[in-house]
Amino acid sequence: MIKQDTVDKIFDTLQIEEVIGDFVDLKKRGTNLIGLCPFHNEKTPSFNVSVSKGIFKCFGCGEGGHAVDFVMKHEKYSYPEALRYIAKKYNIEVDEEELDPQQAVINDHRESLYIVTTWASSFFQDQLWNTEEGKTIGLSYFKERGYTDETVKKFDLGYSSQDWDSLTLKARQEGYDDQFLEETGLVVKKEDGKVYDRFRGRVLFPIRNLTGRVLGFGARTLHADKKVPKYVNSPESPIYHKSDVLYGLFLAKKSIVAADNCFLVEGYADVIAMHQAGVENVVSSSGTSLTHGQIRLISRFSKNVTLLFDGDAAGIKASLRGTDMLLEEGLNVNVILFDDGHDPDSYLKEFGSKRFQKYLEGNQQDFISFKTNILLQDSGNDPVKRAGVIRDIVESIALIPDQIKASVFIRECSKKLDIQERVLIAELNKIKLEYARKSTIQRAKPAEITPLPEEQQEQEDRHSGNNTDLQEQEIVRLLLHYGHLPAKWEKNPEVPIALILFTNLQDIEFHQPACKKIITIFFNYLDRQALPEPKIFIQHQDKEIANMAISLLSSPYTLSPNWNDDKRQIHVTSEVDNLKDTVVKAIHRMKKRVIESHIQQIREELKIETNVDNIAILTNKYQKYKRLEKEILSYLGTVIVK
Ligand code: GTP
Ligand code: MN
Repeated sequence: MIKQDTVDKIFDTLQIEEVIGDFVDLKKRGTNLIGLCPFHNEKTPSFNVSVSKGIFKCFGCGEGGHAVDFVMKHEKYSYPEALRYIAKKYNIEVDEEELDPQQAVINDHRESLYIVTTWASSFFQDQLWNTEEGKTIGLSYFKERGYTDETVKKFDLGYSSQDWDSLTLKARQEGYDDQFLEETGLVVKKEDGKVYDRFRGRVLFPIRNLTGRVLGFGARTLHADKKVPKYVNSPESPIYHKSDVLYGLFLAKKSIVAADNCFLVEGYADVIAMHQAGVENVVSSSGTSLTHGQIRLISRFSKNVTLLFDGDAAGIKASLRGTDMLLEEGLNVNVILFDDGHDPDSYLKEFGSKRFQKYLEGNQQDFISFKTNILLQDSGNDPVKRAGVIRDIVESIALIPDQIKASVFIRECSKKLDIQERVLIAELNKIKLEYARKSTIQRAKPAEITPLPEEQQEQEDRHSGNNTDLQEQEIVRLLLHYGHLPAKWEKNPEVPIALILFTNLQDIEFHQPACKKIITIFFNYLDRQALPEPKIFIQHQDKEIANMAISLLSSPYTLSPNWNDDKRQIHVTSEVDNLKDTVVKAIHRMKKRVIESHIQQIREELKIETNVDNIAILTNKYQKYKRLEKEILSYLGTVIVK
């Protein structure tokens, strides 16, 4: 257990925009920060961070919370893991309540796996730099490839000795459990129960996640022998999901944002060589075909991807299919083709970085022209093949979610293929219809819907007072936002709004558990002549309370994605300026609800009552409540039908 003192210190020190900024590119929007939500697929930003309140909220998928919640959700960390991560970021010493902190860490399974891979990475680096074998074989291999010491260190490259068990033995000696070595794939267990090192006599490329933690390894052989696999990689493990990882992203993310472009290459070697040449916005999907998870990773940092292909025609055709996915995700795709069997790494080695950068600048083509050129080369003048090419290209264009972009490409194609635009558009629409029938394209649709209208609707509902839950939430929202402000319109203008709300609603019972709990906490504070700070709720251990508080504190009044929208701006101002109206209306709506239920009850009773006196009493009561209802309704400005 991490001591409460430490937890408090972590919460007090952290800056939510810094914590989230490590994962999401945030831009200023009004008083808040806004970016693309990492928890769902979206093209227009609806992920809001309120620095003053210390919370984030996505209006698209609804995820929200404080900074520690963010790290937990994003990194799939437990609460203590996330706290430790942030503590490390801010150099806060973590005080543990247990006597044996090591044990507490080991208890956490995933954390143990990370500890093992991190240890292994330093073991492999030690082998590279400090053993004879490592120096003569591993380091000289890197030197021969032209990597400087600085580059080798930057990428934490390592070496594994040719022995069968040097890692296994060292790990055991240092007290690491075989189970974790196996689970991370560092050692392989034979049927007879004996274990041996997976990586032997290879150079090691640690694969890191966005925060730089080691997930696994790629290991390259040093032999040209075609019989041994060139690369041996770590298997999937609880911490390593290949489809969600891009090699080099940890080191590239800042440059990708700065350049607003991401180079996507094929090999580890290409990533490293380009870094050394000063091009740092580069990642690799490590030989596997691109996945949606990887594309989402990129699109968090930039919407522009430039694919660097080496000239092998079969390879290009294979990647063409994968790249349709990029278009489908709304990314702008450009291509740079290397020929004469070059890849970025070999080109750099032969011609140096100046010429490489010139090459990048001079040979970029947009994806559709690239595809057109490639396919037309093949089809020659064969009309049947040509028709196939046209369809193939229009199929790609049909994937582009942005209509304007798509029509620009259609125009370009029309010129290139010498076909009337009209014909291409007809084909495009036909294909779109086909896509729409298949479910694949429907998957992309929800992302396009802007979340605001729904949110607005909810706000309307809350106001029109149709929904009990929303009414209760509105009261809690007012308490959280304005509870501490003075109710200036009251006889005693220093009374806080919270007290006004409580005095007026004391007999009213809240039904929603989360609202009820928040109200109770408020009440206990008021009892002690105090008011709780919002963070009491935001950081509450009871998730129901925290989630409710976060969602209410990030209501569109303050966290509107359309903050700059004129109409909304007025709305925001008017609520704060006219708090009396807002508060009194909310109270009336709650009262109306209670009165309505009384009226309903009297009606039921009247149906079965036979005693004349009782009927008179009930009728009297009924009329009283009806009058009250009418008063309230006229105050609320609701049209009374009867
Ligand atoms: P160099 O030959 O050293 O330049 O390596 P490279 O990183 O450029 O590799 P290459 O272009 O041949 O392959 C691209 C990527 O595919 C590599 O970085 C690996 O991730 C992956 N890959 C290549 N060969 C193998 C293999 O034999 N097995 C596995 N699992 N992956 C491989
Ligand atoms: Mn290569």
